[in-house]
Amino acid sequence: MIKVPYVDLVKQNQPLKKKITKNFLKVLNSGNYILGKELEIFENKFKKYIGSNFCVGVGSGTDALYLSLKAIGLKKSDEVLTVSQSYLASASCINLAGGKIKFVDIRNDLNINEDLILKNLNKNTRAIIVVHLTGRPANIGKIKNIIKKSKLPQKIYLIEDCSQAAGSIINNKKVGSIGDFGCFSFHPLKNLAALGDGGAIVLNNRKNYKWLLKARNHGHPNRDDCDFFSHNMRLDTLQATFLNLKLEELEKTIKIRRKFAKYYQKNISKKVIHIKESINTRSTYHTYIIICSQRDALKKYLLKKGIDTKIHYPKPIHEMNVFKNKKFNNLINTEALSKQILSLPIAEYLSINQIKYVTKTINEFYEKK
Ligand SMILES: Cc1ncc(COP(=O)(O)O)c(C=O)c1O
Repeated sequence: MIKVPYVDLVKQNQPLKKKITKNFLKVLNSGNYILGKELEIFENKFKKYIGSNFCVGVGSGTDALYLSLKAIGLKKSDEVLTVSQSYLASASCINLAGGKIKFVDIRNDLNINEDLILKNLNKNTRAIIVVHLTGRPANIGKIKNIIKKSKLPQKIYLIEDCSQAAGSIINNKKVGSIGDFGCFSFHPLKNLAALGDGGAIVLNNRKNYKWLLKARNHGHPNRDDCDFFSHNMRLDTLQATFLNLKLEELEKTIKIRRKFAKYYQKNISKKVIHIKESINTRSTYHTYIIICSQRDALKKYLLKKGIDTKIHYPKPIHEMNVFKNKKFNNLINTEALSKQILSLPIAEYLSINQIKYVTKTINEFYEKK
């Protein structure tokens, strides 16, 4: 039996151990632990990589989403559209920033169903959080056109939740560079991963950039003054120095993940559904999700054979306790798919033999049925 872990962060970081230690010592010996040069280097490198004019390092992906919504100044009646099939923060940030969450159903590729957006827009809509789930770009160009076509008088902001999609491409553009704000998470499980929490916002609007620089740092215009009350949501300098190393590895990571994804797509039983790339896009496979029958039995079978899998996510956000007094009847696909999705191991530190073993074991399961 071959063991296939879903996550092995120690293994992931081994090849960079020497460089990570060197950068740790660089920061340790500099005495500059908050903001400073290492963070600026990362922000400059990352904005260039994404293709945006500005980048603001923040404490997490959640901070990135929250601060983007604060930057547009949400009022109590303002609605923000998003999906329920995502990590919690894609929705919770709307509530935290003072707006109303409005869920839109998803397509079979797990991204927002853009054909349902138009009928959800109204005079109270202030923004859409478009999640590029699994690293597969959502159809953001079409969403932009839908907003235009709606002819609503107010500006409707597009916030890209790229937490799972660093390096994903649509029509030759990196995701995050297309909407008004691109929000990234550098949580250790992401393709571009810190050794702790981290996040960033990329954008092209200078005024919002200047505001965000203050908003992530208590509203300070300088050390001794405050323009408005805010939180401490800075990206840690130590994490920035690690991210400078990790960013250099990102394209290599994406290449390996794409190779493994292609193998799965080609060789796993026709009885499961793969979520393939659409034309003119590059998915980065933060997760590799299949849509399958007998999901729970398959998961159990794989575990017995030494293969760990996960479910992203077993409970859509609208089914969580926090919404227990609210009824939703428009999320049919979200609810159906949450019972059929399974995330297979996919990571740059796995071997092709492990990927082949996962494939063979899934095929065995369906042949036996
Ligand atoms: C789609 C999505 N949005 C937001 C977040 C929140 O990021 P963080 O954990 O860095 O706050 C995550 C991370 O899990 C995510 O996957």
